[in-house]
Amino acid sequence: MQRGCHCHCHCHCHCHCHCHCHCPCEGMARSPALLLCAQFLSLTGAQPPLLTLDPPWTPLFEGQTVTLTCGPPDERVPTVWSINGRTSRATSRLQFALPSTGHNSFQCQRSGSEPSPRIELNVSDDWGVLQAPVQPVLEGDKLVLRCRGWRNTRPSSVSFFHNGELLRGPGGQEDTLLLAPAQRHHSGRYHCTGKRYLGRFKTEPNEVVVHELFSVPELSVEGPREPPEGSALTLACVTRGSPLRPRVALRHLFYRDGVVVAGPQGSPQHLLQALALPDSGSYACEARAEAARVQKRSPPVTITVRRVPVGGVTLAAQPPGGQVAEGEGLVLSCAAGGGTRPLVFSWHRQGQDQPLARGPRYELPAARPEDGGHYFCRATDNVTAATSPPLQVTVVVPVAGVTVRAAEAAGTEVAGTEGERLNLSCAVRVGTAPVAFTWLRDGEEVGEGPLLALGPLGPGHAGSYQCVATNRLGAQRAFQQRSPPVALSVTPRGRGQRRGRGKGWVAASPR
Ligand SMILES: *[C@@H]1O[C@H](CO)[C@@H](O)[C@H](O)[C@H]1NC(C)=O
Ligand SMILES: *[C@@H]1O[C@H](CO)[C@@H](O)[C@H](O)[C@H]1NC(C)=O
Ligand SMILES: *[C@@H]1O[C@H](CO)[C@@H](O)[C@H](O)[C@H]1NC(C)=O
Repeated sequence: MQRGCHCHCHCHCHCHCHCHCHCPCEGMARSPALLLCAQFLSLTGAQPPLLTLDPPWTPLFEGQTVTLTCGPPDERVPTVWSINGRTSRATSRLQFALPSTGHNSFQCQRSGSEPSPRIELNVSDDWGVLQAPVQPVLEGDKLVLRCRGWRNTRPSSVSFFHNGELLRGPGGQEDTLLLAPAQRHHSGRYHCTGKRYLGRFKTEPNEVVVHELFSVPELSVEGPREPPEGSALTLACVTRGSPLRPRVALRHLFYRDGVVVAGPQGSPQHLLQALALPDSGSYACEARAEAARVQKRSPPVTITVRRVPVGGVTLAAQPPGGQVAEGEGLVLSCAAGGGTRPLVFSWHRQGQDQPLARGPRYELPAARPEDGGHYFCRATDNVTAATSPPLQVTVVVPVAGVTVRAAEAAGTEVAGTEGERLNLSCAVRVGTAPVAFTWLRDGEEVGEGPLLALGPLGPGHAGSYQCVATNRLGAQRAFQQRSPPVALSVTPRGRGQRRGRGKGWVAASPR
């Protein structure tokens, strides 16, 4: 190193400094910041300006001319600079020659804005330097490292070293090392060796940090890790972006056992609806900054969908209640609450071993009386099974074939004698019990029950008798049939010749 040389600095105020240094100066600490001092604005609000340094490297050489821009440049906006901790007010662009070796820190602020990120610049007067970007390097960026000889000259026979290990040996005039896309493991101490004129040099190490663009995502499960079948679960891919580069657009993917199940998508959430047993597995998510070609996958999270046993089996009938008239249709259907789909349904009748049918529906297109009984259905998922409560199916036969009889004989005419007693009985050929009977004489109701006891007979008993038989299907429907009329004539006592034939005499019916 050359020492003890002299130095001429011509500094003009308002931060136009022209320093012409002919060799390294010792103890030179003068910087443009000394020239003008002002309070560093403590205003906040708008986006911080971007502070750039040209050339954009650190370290630079003493005497090198640099331009600091508090961008975008706008001469009308006053800019406050903080240079090595001292503040001054100046234009948004400063150009000067680096006055001395050492460490420098620059920051700027424009009225109404946050202060810019800080730039840390080392100034060297060594025989060679390993230059790294002065702006922060994030994953996915192009990381360029340069090897420079004294006072920014290009060396030859350059080798690059990472953490002391040779990374690239000499290759022609190549004094630039490109690492793209930059990754976290590229962080570390870099130095280079090279040749300038006849001398070889080895630089000081330069600590390079490749910052995270975003954190390794974590898969957050909003719900239990062992959810029951049929439930829903939301997965969220949680990652933090770097404050050094906010608002990086991320795409998200979700994996189960290494296979993509959702994405790429902007939303960091994935909803698993109506979970089934095969949804169990090892889940992970991935966040991608596609432009930067950076992708990171979360550690896996095991999700086990719990089997829910078959349960809540219900049997529904159409018409409701399972009561139909003979010949009408009946449809039974079966449903289950829990259970692994698909479920297998079967139909059973109490007292029968063999199932009647399979499937969630059972239909009787035309019900017969013998179809009446207790029915139930069974649902199974092959592992568990459950049955419904039984349903009683009732097939009602409407009353039909209603006839009136007097004693043992049937007919359409009955002759009685005054003073005697006479029983009329009503019968149905078919009809599901209970059957109710009412009696009509000349259309007027005169009694109830299967038997109408008349007598002692008087002239008033003569008339046309009919029996009305009724049975019901539930409370709503009634079946009713009237018998053919039977005519009762009453013969005055003593006039009749056939008194001896007495009760229950029935005129010969012409049928
Ligand atoms: C820059 O300067 C700082 C402070 O003096 C020092 O710790 C660091 O190692 C320097 N970096 C380089 C690359 O010279
Ligand atoms: C489920 O039942 C079906 C039909 O009975 C049978 O073919 C299948 O092997 C069963 N599956 C299991 C897992 O038991
Ligand atoms: C009518 O029926 C009732 C009840 O069965 C019976 O007691 C009565 O003797 C019967 N009368 C005649 C005249 O048959």
